[in-house]
Amino acid sequence: MSTADAASGGAMLVLADLAKRHALASRPLFSGLAFAVAAGEIVALVGESGVGKSTLLNCIAGLETADSGSICIGPQAIDIVRLDESARAALRARHIGFVFQAFHILPTLTVAQNIAVPLLLCGAPASTHGARTQALLERVGMAGFASRWPASLSGGELQRVAIARALVHQPALILADEPTGNLDPRTANEVLALLLERVREQRASALLVTHSQQVARCCDRILTLTPDGLA
Ligand SMILES: Nc1ncnc2c1ncn2[C@@H]1O[C@H](COP(=O)(O)OP(=O)(O)OP(=O)(O)O)[C@@H](O)[C@H]1O
Ligand SMILES: [Mg+2]
Repeated sequence: MSTADAASGGAMLVLADLAKRHALASRPLFSGLAFAVAAGEIVALVGESGVGKSTLLNCIAGLETADSGSICIGPQAIDIVRLDESARAALRARHIGFVFQAFHILPTLTVAQNIAVPLLLCGAPASTHGARTQALLERVGMAGFASRWPASLSGGELQRVAIARALVHQPALILADEPTGNLDPRTANEVLALLLERVREQRASALLVTHSQQVARCCDRILTLTPDGLA
């Protein structure tokens, strides 16, 4: 799918000819990568450990910089590779929700304050934060947890909070890096089902890194990253 298609609403993520080599590495981690994620599509990204899945996700989110190529994001197909750091942060705040394996919930904020962080970052009116946060708490089955401190939550509960935080600002694109990797199998299944339901409910697109074939099969499409590119 071309960048022009993306700009017309056909895709929420379009990568073209993307290359990345880590400093001091003898060869590029990947080069010539190209794929698109359509609006509303949930794509699984699988591949062996060390092949570069997290690096790729971080490049898409603008948390790491790609060496060349383009990564067009959101309804306006803005190329995050060409932006400086503050513009990358602004694009991320507006259009991307990220769910990490290790949750990354801020320990000194309450559950509700954690969920509201993206609303602050994207400049949503303060008067909307309370209702929006409460709505997401309800959608992830955590309605009574607004005032709780993260230290008192289980892993499954922390990841539910992280899912609410990733979705609260209604981003076009959800990026999730092994979001159930730190959970027991039953909790992992519940949290994954919740994540997929909420992503579909908001008609967002998602790229989901996983080592689980079972998780990958729940997605619309599976991309496999290999040392030679996408398979
Ligand atoms: N900042 C960095 N500097 C140098 N090398 C790095 C850096 N970050 C990652 N790497 C290397 O890049 C390779 C890919 O790492 P990455 O974390 O993207 O793999 P992955 O596919 O996510 O693996 P896993 O499935 O184990 O999470 C690894 O060999 C890693 O050591
Ligand atoms: Mg990884």
